[in-house]
Amino acid sequence: MMNLEEMQALLKESIPPKRYKHSVHVYETALELAKSHQLPQEKIAIAALLHDCGREVGSKESVGKAQELGLPIDWVELNQPILLHAKLGVYNAMHKYGIADQEILDGILYHTTGMAGMTDLAKVVYLADMIEPGRDFPGVEELRKLAHKNLDQAMLMAYSNTIRYLLDGGLLIHPHCIEGYNELILAAKE
Ligand SMILES: [Fe+2]
Ligand SMILES: [Fe+2]
Repeated sequence: MMNLEEMQALLKESIPPKRYKHSVHVYETALELAKSHQLPQEKIAIAALLHDCGREVGSKESVGKAQELGLPIDWVELNQPILLHAKLGVYNAMHKYGIADQEILDGILYHTTGMAGMTDLAKVVYLADMIEPGRDFPGVEELRKLAHKNLDQAMLMAYSNTIRYLLDGGLLIHPHCIEGYNELILAAKE
């Protein structure tokens, strides 16, 4: 199996420099979150580093590429192809980086939309992607603080921000995002 340095080198030559820099930021942020929540670091490190490894395929080519690889494409992905980099990422993680661990692969799979029943690893990757130092949006500081305190509360805030943003922009909302939101809003009420 490839070690982390080898994965990092391969990633660097596979995706655009800006994406690579973002990936390293997400990796560093995910490790900080892992520390705050006393979670095992190794798998989180790999999932965070590779979360955007599907980005070596441009958004425009991603539908064709996913079809060519026989990956299932849902209706929302077909209309918002950028989302497909998660599934393409899982494919690359398996076939290019030699990842077989299901929890790592799920962390990559759900990093764009979220999902109900996510593991702590997947939550950390999702949140790190949203709060890494390069991110700047109203409320990001609040989300950063909350992410280090409580993963579920931070996920709920992240979903709420995302859904609001998608509504305001007239964009499609992926069902997995709604499922994740519903799960947490229900848990918060109990
Ligand atoms: Fe991504
Ligand atoms: Fe990302």
